[in-house]
Parts: sequence; C-alpha cells; structure tokens
Amino acid sequence: MQGKRILLGVTGGVAAYKAAELARLLTKDGFEVRVVMTEAARHFIGPATFQALTGQPVFTDLWDARVDNGMAHIDLSRNADAILVAPASADFLAKLAQGRADDLLSTLCLARDCPLLAAPAMNRQMWEAPATQRNVRQLLEDDVELLGPDHGEQACGEVGPGRMLEPEDLQAAVAAWFQPKRLKGLKVVITAGPTFETIDAVRGITNLSSGKMGYAVARAAVEAGAEVTLVSGPTSLTPPREARTIPVISSKEMLGAVESVVRNAHIFIAVAAVADYYVLNPSEQKIKKDAHILTLELAPNPDILANISSRAEPPFCVGFAAESENIEEYAELKRRRKHLPLIVANDVKQAVGRDEVQLILLDDAGRHVLDKADKLTQARRLIAHVARLYNESYP
Ligand code: C5P
Repeated sequence: MQGKRILLGVTGGVAAYKAAELARLLTKDGFEVRVVMTEAARHFIGPATFQALTGQPVFTDLWDARVDNGMAHIDLSRNADAILVAPASADFLAKLAQGRADDLLSTLCLARDCPLLAAPAMNRQMWEAPATQRNVRQLLEDDVELLGPDHGEQACGEVGPGRMLEPEDLQAAVAAWFQPKRLKGLKVVITAGPTFETIDAVRGITNLSSGKMGYAVARAAVEAGAEVTLVSGPTSLTPPREARTIPVISSKEMLGAVESVVRNAHIFIAVAAVADYYVLNPSEQKIKKDAHILTLELAPNPDILANISSRAEPPFCVGFAAESENIEEYAELKRRRKHLPLIVANDVKQAVGRDEVQLILLDDAGRHVLDKADKLTQARRLIAHVARLYNESYP
C-alpha cells in the first residue's frame, strides 16, 4: 500500500477509540493516513492521538487556516485514493445519504472524486431503525461501500447488529479493496490444510500443516475478485467470508469434494498437505494397548492434483512442493510429473506453521523467487503470477 493515500473520517461514536488502532494499522501497511474528525468524535478521542499515530496533521474544521487556499474540502479529498469513515455513526450515514455538507468531513465526502467506504457503528435499535435502513439502501445505490457492521455485544450492554468491525477486520477489508481484480469472473478451487486418516475411533495420521498458506491463497483469490471454493482439511482457521468452504477430514473426502466442484473451475490450486497413505482397515473401536507390536497396514492415497491435471480439459493447475532438500530440483520434477504449468516450492523446515516464508515459483519460463514475507503477501504475489500465466494461456 506504499504511497496510497487514505482519508480516515472519524465520527462521534464510542467506537471512535478503535479508530486509533485502525489508523495505526493502516499507517503500518504503508498508507499515508490523513484523519478528519467531526466535532462529536472529539468528545470520544483527541486529535493528538491520531496525529501521533499517523505522523500527519489532523483536520477538524472546515475553515482550517493551515490549508493555503482556504479550500480544505477540495485539497484533502483531491489527494486521497479513498475515504474511509470509521466509525460511521447513524447521524453521519443520514448526512451522507442526504448529501449534506455542514462540516468538514461531510463536505469532503460530497466533494470527493475517489471511492467512499464506511464502517457503520451504532446501537442495535439505531441500526435497525427504518430510517437508517433507508439511508443504507440509498448509500449502496450511491456506490458507497459499507464494511460491516458486525453482530455482537454493544457498549450499551445490548447484543445485536450495529457493532463496528474490529480494526484488524477493517484493515483487511481496506487492503482487499485495494487489490487489483485480476481474477474477476473466474472460478478458483483451492485445497488447504492437512488431511486426517483414521486409525481408530480416537486416533489418526495427520501432519503439521496449519492451513495458513492455503487460507491466505483463498483470501488473496477472493480479493482478486475470484469466485472461490476452499476445500479444507481440519484446521482452526477462519475461512474468508466470501469463499464457499467445504470442510473435509480424509484425503478421499478431499478428492470427492474437489471432484464435485472442479468441473467448472478455471483454476485449481492444491495447497493442502495431503496424506500420502491411509490406514487400510481402521478400527471402529479404540484399539486397546497390549505388549505386542501393532502393525498398521497403509495404502497409497489418490493424488488429487495429478488426478485433476491429467483430465482431458484440466483447469489451470498449480501445485505446492514442500521439500526438505534439493528443493528446486525435486519441485521441478514434481511439476513435470504432474503436468503443471506452475509449482510453488518451499523449504518445509522453514515453512510449516510459520508466519513468514520464502517461495520459489517454477514455471515454463524458469524460476521466480518471492522473497521472505508473511503468507498473505506471498499469496497475493502468487495470485498475481497465476493471473498473468492464466491470461497468457487463455487470452
Ligand atoms: O507429490 P507431493 O505430495 O509432494 O505433491 C505436492 C502437491 O500435490 C501439492 O500441491 C499437494 O496439494 C498435491 N497433492 C494432492 N494429493 C495428494 C498428494 C499431493 O493433491 N494425494
């Protein structure tokens, strides 16, 4: 987000204190954040907090002498790539819906030539009031992007809709909103996580995959505008809201789920760490301990990716190769064996369960190193690469 400018409008609601954390997170992401506060917002939090967190002057007044030509509303919104109002109170939504311009923030919103995002925050009854809902419909019609609200506990003690999204959720929504829509109109199927192969009623064979990479790829694909189906082995992660998620346990279930959804897919990305073997005769009851050696008979699992990539008209298939030695050599062999246009190689010793990874992309043109970064950043880079190759293959 380096170099992008966001104008953060803060209106009067108790959630205004969370806008400070949001300003910090957006600044950390590389945005230049300019904060504009309404008078009511200043009853909840002071401008100095935002000034310190963003390193930028905070504006509160339509007649601010710091703006050279006295046209703060033109100057501030002309430079912004987007305006985000968070929290957006019921009163401010009403102002926006009516196109009023009686303070600096509402004037900036009316005078903008950039997109407007708003994160509503109010009491349940205010949110559900017919007037607010009427304003919301109007705002959607006017192409205002509403982020939330969430459902949950409210400052007044009630529980219901109207709560502002958490700063991290807003940070993710803003970052997502800024991603280029490279996969718009495309269906993408992604596998993620480990699989679990049953031994008996309480035991099984699994692996250390956390699912983080696959979920990050799913999020990046959603952000790029794709219609995403995520087939996930057991993980503790929350899938992107916009993806259709099919939870599975075993490798065979994963294959069944992929086969049921992949037919119309344009792209298939196999990130899951699928167990190579399953237990031939799992016991329905818990196996009792005794002094003897216990032998498990293992049979090979079907290779989901190879199964899909060897179809007559396969989707654009992407594999992952987690290796512990000769990383690129082994990954390239895998790419050729499974007939993949692209494989993503990583060092299993560095990658499993970690938040930051280095990836190497291997395709017909050679190798492309994605320097160490968090998994979402890597997933976004991967999706950009996939989109480029896909567009070259299917112009
Ligand atoms: O051959 P290997 O298991 O290392 O290949 C890894 C790639 O193949 C990954 O993309 C993984 O998701 C996929 N795979 C699969 N089904 C299997 C084994 C691996 O889809 N049974």
